[in-house]
Parts: sequence; C-alpha cells; structure tokens
Amino acid sequence: MSTQVVILAAGQGKRMYSHIPKVLHLLAGKPMLTHVIDTAFTLSDKKPIVVIGHHAHEVRDAIKQLDVALVEQSEQLGTGHALLQALPFIADEDNVLVLYGDVPLISTTTLKKLLSVTQVNTLGMLTAYLHNPQGYGRIKRDHQQKVISIVEEKDATDEERKITEINPGIYLVAAKLLKKWLPNLKNHNAQKEYYLTDIISLAVRENIFISTIEPEYIEEIAGVNDCVQLAFLERFYQRQMAKSLMRKGVTLADPERLDVRGEVVVARDVVIDINVIFEGKVQIGEGCTIGANSILRNTTLGNHVQVQPFSMIDGATIADKCVIGPFARIRPETTLAEAVHIGNFVEVKKSHIDQGSKANHLSYIGDAEIGKRVNVGAGTITCNYDGVKKHKTIIGDGAFIGSDTQLVAPVTVGEGATIGAGSTITDDTPPHELTLSRAEQKTIKGWKRK
Ligand code: UD1
Ligand code: CA
Repeated sequence: MSTQVVILAAGQGKRMYSHIPKVLHLLAGKPMLTHVIDTAFTLSDKKPIVVIGHHAHEVRDAIKQLDVALVEQSEQLGTGHALLQALPFIADEDNVLVLYGDVPLISTTTLKKLLSVTQVNTLGMLTAYLHNPQGYGRIKRDHQQKVISIVEEKDATDEERKITEINPGIYLVAAKLLKKWLPNLKNHNAQKEYYLTDIISLAVRENIFISTIEPEYIEEIAGVNDCVQLAFLERFYQRQMAKSLMRKGVTLADPERLDVRGEVVVARDVVIDINVIFEGKVQIGEGCTIGANSILRNTTLGNHVQVQPFSMIDGATIADKCVIGPFARIRPETTLAEAVHIGNFVEVKKSHIDQGSKANHLSYIGDAEIGKRVNVGAGTITCNYDGVKKHKTIIGDGAFIGSDTQLVAPVTVGEGATIGAGSTITDDTPPHELTLSRAEQKTIKGWKRK
C-alpha cells in the first residue's frame, strides 16, 4: 500500500490582512505551503495533491515548479468537503495522509512515526495536549482511553471544552474508507460545514481501530492564522536551525541572532558572529569566520575564509584563505581563487580574481578577469557598460593598478604592467611597462582668490 499525501490549502486566511494568500506567506524564506510539500516529498513517491480554492490562481502560479497535483475546491464548505474533492484522484488501495498548507512545520520524523504505527485498514491520527486548547477540536475518549470522537470547539459543551487533548487535524486513513464516508458527511453543526473530524465517530461505529501519536514538538502542529503566529513559528524554526549547526560544531555568538533561509553545510571550527543571514544553498569550509551582519546567499566558501562584518556575498565561489570585507559586496558569478582580499566598499560582479590578488578599498570590478598577485588600487573602476553592452576587462598577473584608475572596457592590462594613479585607460597596455594618462599639473603663479 502506498501513501497519498493530500494538503488542504483552500482556506482564506482573513486574519493575515494581506493580499498575499496565507499559504504563500514566507517562513524561513520559503512559502509555508512549500514547506509542507517538501515534507510530503520525503514521505511518498506519489505526487502530493494540493487542494486550493481561495486565490487559487496565485497559489497555482507560486508552486508551478513543484511536482504536485492540484485540485480546486470552488466553495469552502469545510475540511471534509475539501478532502472529498481530492478523492476521485486517489487509488482505492492508497492510504491518505492529510496535511495543511498553513501548518508548515509538521516534521518528517513525526509523520513517519504515524505511518509506521498505523495498521492496514485502520485510522491513525496525531493528538496533542495543550495548556490552552482554545480554538481546537477536542479528543473524546471512553473509559478504556479509546478515541470515540472529535468535538469542534464551537459545538462543544462547557465540560468538553475543558478537555486539553486536541486534534491537530492530521490523519492517516485508507482511501477506501474515505470514499465510503466523505460523500455521506452531514453539515448539521454550528458552522454548517462538512467536518472531516466526523470520520472519527464513523470509524468508531465500524469498530475500526484508531491509533494516536503525539508530535515530537508542539510547534509542528501549530497553524498560522495571523502574523503573530507566523513570527512565532519562524523563531522556533530558526532556533532549530541554530541548534543543528551548533551540534555540528559551529560556534554561534548568539543562536537567537542567526537566520537560515535555505540550507547550510558546514565543516569544522566555523565561527559565526551575530545577525548573520544565510539564504539558498550555502557551504562553509573549515575554520571560516563570518562577521556580524553579513549575508551569504548561494555561496561556497573554502577553508579559513574570513568574512568581516557587514559583507554581502551572493552567488560566489570563494577559495581558501580569502579575506572579504568589512562592507564588501560580492555579486553572482564571481569566483575568487586562494588568498584574494576584497576590502571595504568594494563591489565585485561576474568576475574571476586569481590567487593572491587584492582590491582593498572603494572599487567596482565587473565582468573582469584578474590574474595572480594583482594590486587594484583604491577607487579603481572597471567601466564595463557602454549603455548598451557589457564589456570585459582583463588584467594580467602581477599588474599594479594605481588608485582611482578607470579601465574602460573592453581593455586588457598586460602582465606585470603598472598603471599610474588617476589614469583613464581606454587602450590595451603593454606588459611590464608604466602606462598613465594624466593631464599635466600646473601652478598659476601669483593667482589670488576673488
Ligand atoms: C480544524 C479541525 C479541528 C482542528 C483544527 C486544527 C475540522 C472540522 N476541524 O478546525 O478539529 O483542531 O483544524 O487546526 O476539520 N480548508 C479547506 N477547505 C475548506 C475548509 C478548510 O481547504 O473548506 C483548509 C484550510 O485552508 C485550513 C484547514 O483546512 O488550512 C483547516 O481549516 P479551518 O477552517 O481553519 O479548520 P479549523 O476550524 O481550524
Ligand atoms: Ca484553523
């Protein structure tokens, strides 16, 4: 038997006060719904089915890259009705696992446990104990502690509202049973909705065993209805990421001040100062240090790289022993070979800089190929754009570019060449010679200020 995951995501999310559909709000840089879909991928080879409704168009658009099947629920008549829409697309032999687009942090570990404890042709579900069960459906059990039904808060008596065991809404149940039960659900309740929760009493009536398990963390079953709850889950998620990095030996100046919006792979002895953000896929080699307030996105650092404070590195590959920043900006398609130094207020875009070269102050290096042991003086700029096209600047090994030079691309500076400070270089310069372009300095004798 295989597992068919169905993710309910048709609801509106009024309390977000947003034009963005609720399930597309970002948690750790990724839509909540995508978190759930990614978890579904870890559980089954079958395409997850996502039930959409409110803002269906935007949701469809946002997840079009993902290998999921979409089913539309045109009117939101309740959770039971939502799941019913997916049934025609589910094989009778499958087991259906129900998840929610606004319960983003349900974990693979907990769900795998649910899959393993639920016997064939029975029903498995999560339950949890909450100090404040308000808003949730409550689990009713008999004297032998067997689950007998779920009562929604709006339908519950005062006595039932005191029950602290709640229904997270996550069930695993045979498609065959759902196909029998869901078309016959009634909406005779306080909300005039077709409640998926009614399948519990139907199972009990048919003597079907119900197994229950609790999630590893209570935050896994927390739903997001407003921005406060979203922020709460964001912090929980970030704390988990920080813990997992520390368990791999990373030293964090403050685990509360790190944000991971993607995946980070770390080697030994990495030290990370406060307010660092990682986005996309980031790989960090042994002995690297990341300075405060730096952002690394889709970047690979070799070993013993020093990223000094306030640096932004995006889409770069940086080899061993480079020193970056403070206040450096490295943009996509940049590769730095070993021991390159990029200093303050230097921007590097789509360039390769070879071993041991340095650009330490106030420069723009774009579309350039810079050789080994080159010194790029303060204020040097590659003029790579003529208003229509981008052009390349090539600088040979061992060249010395004097401060405040403009290299008007396309242009090549020969190996070992020296460029005098303040030059505007429009033609290729020969190797091992001094080239400069500079108006002669003059002094007007006896001149007086007005
Ligand atoms: C539901 C459960 C409740 C449980 C709680 C957990 C029912 C009847 N109640 O209540 O026992 O404690 O979740 O959070 O199931 N949705 C649709 N289509 C619909 C209605 C809902 O796709 O027609 C989706 C929503 O987008 C949402 C989820 O189902 O993601 C839950 O719906 P909601 O109306 O919020 O149910 P609750 O009242 O919270
Ligand atoms: Ca809800």
